[in-house]
Amino acid sequence: MEKNKKVLVVGSGGREHAIVKALARSPQVEKIFCAPGNAGIAEDAECVAIGVEDVDALVSFARDNAIDMTVVGPEAALAVGLVDAMEAAGLKAFGPTKAAARIESSKEFAKQIMTKYNVPTASYEAFDDFGKAWEYVKNRPLPAVIKYDGLAAGKGVVVALSYEEAEAALRDMLLDSAFGKGRVVVEDFLDGPEFSFMCVVSGSKVYPLAMAQDHKRAFDGDKGPNTGGMGAYSPVPFVSDEIREKALREIIQRTADGLVAEGVPFKGVLYGGLILTADGPKVIEFNARFGDPETEVVLPRLESDFYDLVEAAVEGRDCETKWSDEAYLGVVLASEGYPGSYKKGVEIKGLGNVNAEVYHMGTKREGDKILTAGGRVLMVVGKGKTIAEANAAAKAEIEKIDCPSLFHRTDIGKASL
Ligand code: AMP
Ligand code: GLY
Repeated sequence: MEKNKKVLVVGSGGREHAIVKALARSPQVEKIFCAPGNAGIAEDAECVAIGVEDVDALVSFARDNAIDMTVVGPEAALAVGLVDAMEAAGLKAFGPTKAAARIESSKEFAKQIMTKYNVPTASYEAFDDFGKAWEYVKNRPLPAVIKYDGLAAGKGVVVALSYEEAEAALRDMLLDSAFGKGRVVVEDFLDGPEFSFMCVVSGSKVYPLAMAQDHKRAFDGDKGPNTGGMGAYSPVPFVSDEIREKALREIIQRTADGLVAEGVPFKGVLYGGLILTADGPKVIEFNARFGDPETEVVLPRLESDFYDLVEAAVEGRDCETKWSDEAYLGVVLASEGYPGSYKKGVEIKGLGNVNAEVYHMGTKREGDKILTAGGRVLMVVGKGKTIAEANAAAKAEIEKIDCPSLFHRTDIGKASL
């Protein structure tokens, strides 16, 4: 096999850092660019200063540099039609079209697909009128699950334990237009452990990736506000092979087939945010892209060629994947205050002493200093024969990082230790 492929990765977080590292292991990949990247990614790829939503500049860059494949990380780039534009220019891109990405960007579209194609999920009603929504919610049992219909960076979901809280959430979303436009989905509360099942999908073809579990709340014991994710691990022992097969068949495959039948075939990563209820796995949400931080613990377990998998999906051909049995566990170091407001530009010391993979989520280089540049800043990933070993490895290495403005959870993976 010739090492001659040029790849452009779009994004600037830990997910893109993991994608870059996985591509760098491919025997076919010669050169990796990342737009815009970050201080850590710059060590593994050539960063180019183009924003993820600057579609015209990304297409020109890919054309001018004879890029063989563009791998799109963030949903924002999908939602502005980056993949559509690449394809219109005759360029290959891994990720769904804008229309197919609505499985993530519109909660209501996702629910319609799931209802029509019999994909297990909570039953729901959609509203854009506050009075009607409140009338519906106050006559139903608590907790009330209220979701803003649109991209809200993981913050548009309220699981209200009281009617006062539910009413306030509906007011926020429908009357104060806190997120821009008023439309909500109200759904049944589901109970059970959550897990992330990411599958590469190409039309009706599904190539499952290893399972992971994310930890969305900011603080230990699943306390505090929802975040983008504070840590993750893979594999997930409480997801048996039988549950995995069921999720693959009844959730991912039915959704992929449904999108084909609707005329919006999906290509890219279909990420099932699933919950294991007493009635089996059900969908909490779909994402149209790799999860962050799940990708940082899943892709390192891929032993086969990641570029081949990406290309197979884009070309619609078969591809076998091979996975390591090792466990990976990653802890996110975030800026004090995240997911609310936080300081940036604080120096991070000690990175050179860390003997584990460190994925940069939000960092910037200034001279020879690495500075914080985001809410989620770094993810330290330990590996081992067991999740407990991986956890111990991550914890020991985090101690070596010296930055006064970072905090992290200490209970990642606890449910599976
Ligand atoms: P989402 O952005 O849809 O993933 O929701 C964020 C979080 O809210 C999820 O990870 C769940 O913990 C919780 N959640 C969302 N929908 C439900 C539901 N129907 N039942 C219980 N919890 C939910
Ligand atoms: N970790 C959750 C997400 O990527 O949406």
